[in-house]
Amino acid sequence: MYRTHNCGELRLSDAGKEVTLSGWSATIRDKGSLLWIDLRDRYGITQLVFDENYTDKKLFDVARSIGREFVLQATGTIIERASKTTKIATGDIEIKVTDLRILNAAKTPPFTITDDTDGGDDLRMKYRYLDLRRPTVQQNLFFRSNLAIETRKYLAAQDFVEVETPFLIKSTPEGARDFVVPSRMNKGQFYALPQSPQTFKQILMVSGFDKYFQIVKCFRDEDLRADRQPEFTQIDCEMSFVHQEDILNTFEGLTKHLFKAALDVELGTFPRMTYDEAMLRYGSDKPDIRFGMEFCDLTDVAKGKGFPVFDGAESVLAICAPGCAEYTRKQIDELTEWVKRPQIGAKGLVYVKCEADGSLKSSVDKFYTPDDLKVWAEKCGAKPGDLLFLLCGEDEKTRKQLCELRLEMGTRLGLRDPKRFEPLWVVDFPLLEWDEDEGRFFAMHHPFTSPKPQDIVKMESDDHKVLKSMRADAYDLVLNGVEIGGGSIRIHDRDLQARNFKLLGFTPEEAEAQFGFLLGAFEFGAPPHGGIAFGFDRLNSVMNGANSIRDFIAFPKNNQGRDMMIDAPDGIKQKQLDELGIAVVPPPAAS
Ligand code: AMO
Repeated sequence: MYRTHNCGELRLSDAGKEVTLSGWSATIRDKGSLLWIDLRDRYGITQLVFDENYTDKKLFDVARSIGREFVLQATGTIIERASKTTKIATGDIEIKVTDLRILNAAKTPPFTITDDTDGGDDLRMKYRYLDLRRPTVQQNLFFRSNLAIETRKYLAAQDFVEVETPFLIKSTPEGARDFVVPSRMNKGQFYALPQSPQTFKQILMVSGFDKYFQIVKCFRDEDLRADRQPEFTQIDCEMSFVHQEDILNTFEGLTKHLFKAALDVELGTFPRMTYDEAMLRYGSDKPDIRFGMEFCDLTDVAKGKGFPVFDGAESVLAICAPGCAEYTRKQIDELTEWVKRPQIGAKGLVYVKCEADGSLKSSVDKFYTPDDLKVWAEKCGAKPGDLLFLLCGEDEKTRKQLCELRLEMGTRLGLRDPKRFEPLWVVDFPLLEWDEDEGRFFAMHHPFTSPKPQDIVKMESDDHKVLKSMRADAYDLVLNGVEIGGGSIRIHDRDLQARNFKLLGFTPEEAEAQFGFLLGAFEFGAPPHGGIAFGFDRLNSVMNGANSIRDFIAFPKNNQGRDMMIDAPDGIKQKQLDELGIAVVPPPAAS
């Protein structure tokens, strides 16, 4: 028997027992006649003690030969510790070792296997198996495992059926870029890895499954960020005979269940906001509503007073940073530089300080009277001690820039508490999005999303304004400013789907070639249906107040899309290329 107990469970009440533990040597402290080894497994840490006064010399020598991360089996008696610690659950006891076996030696690890490790990102990704030994990283994956189990429990109890859909599917040009896989048996042809199981889950509704879910890998070849990985996991769902309201209620229920089960947090009813309102108040379709600092439109009152920058702008928008009137020149200059960075792209930053004595000081005093500034302050609800920040320019761009500034100020002022959770449904998304580069409309959610019934009449319009005004039965779940999930009611009528493809610039032939199977299925009795998908990695990270989803993925890729541990992607052998009928000059060949 390798072990009678694990390294996290022994307590003072076990004193006197003889036990055997197995694990890794985490830290070794050698005080000459006394030697301690912290033995670690996934359950915790237990201290082993060796004392020249009573430990057999041979055994002491074995103990002294041990290095970090050796795999050990230790047998001994549980004794009360002389110097107890509350840092670990087993801190009251230690094991007086009578037998020690080295199950496997280990090279010295390239970084410390502790929560506050000294390893940098790249090194930890290369040696991910060592990084995964760190207790915090393990906790993240235990959390994720539990969340998946709770998801299955909740959805199964609501009659959802888990169905696996294929990973080798057909490439479609909508959405992000596909990862493609060449076919040996069909030379010159390619599968694509699914960006989501969207069409398959709709087909399952046509087949009568009624309520489907899957915790499923999705693949998207897009630029990577902290909240984006090329392969990520969705809780993917679809339901038949439902309206938007049914879906929102079901998945609000799931989210509440997960928060209660995993964090013991009770979430109240989720507020709802239309896309238009979110853009107006926060300049974002995923507003972080843990704090206020809402947008204040000063266009009417700021234009026409002779300040050329504002006069030439489409919009002049402000936020009110509470308690920031004492900001120094240096602080404001630094923020001005911050908004001027290419990532934000603002031309400049105008401020108005609302001093404690009621007076107002601004960077544009030359153009505006104290009364003008007073109007601004009143419109923005600014109080003495507050600081107004104004940005101007083209409306859409200015909203995006001010949104970034608002989030930055929220962070700087400590208003984005990671332990507070503020969910929000954003509803009534536009159906279409204009792509300047391609000169055509794209579906904002995806091409299967249903326009709102009252907007269907607008579909044949050739007026861009009319088309842009079309709204869809599409919704997102936002949590603390992160898009956790998105979905829609789908088109289930073949003709309407064909009209939508036409609107998106597909010829009937293209639509048939790419989505013929779905259009065909719609001719055989498609029920009204809709669904949603949650980004499972994002849900895990937001629930834990973490910034990056990588911490919740066992084997993530870096920002260049590389798996540093297995060193992928990599070249393939000429023989494989020949078999696949691919004539490329391979990158440096794999051995
Ligand atoms: P959507 O494209 O909005 O919808 O994706 C759903 C959710 O998946 C997460 N997500 C990602 N997470 C990590 N890395 C990525 N690269 C990534 N891309 C998306 C987000 C997002 O909200 N088939 C539709 C859903 C539906 O209509 O039912 C879909 O995939 O949290």
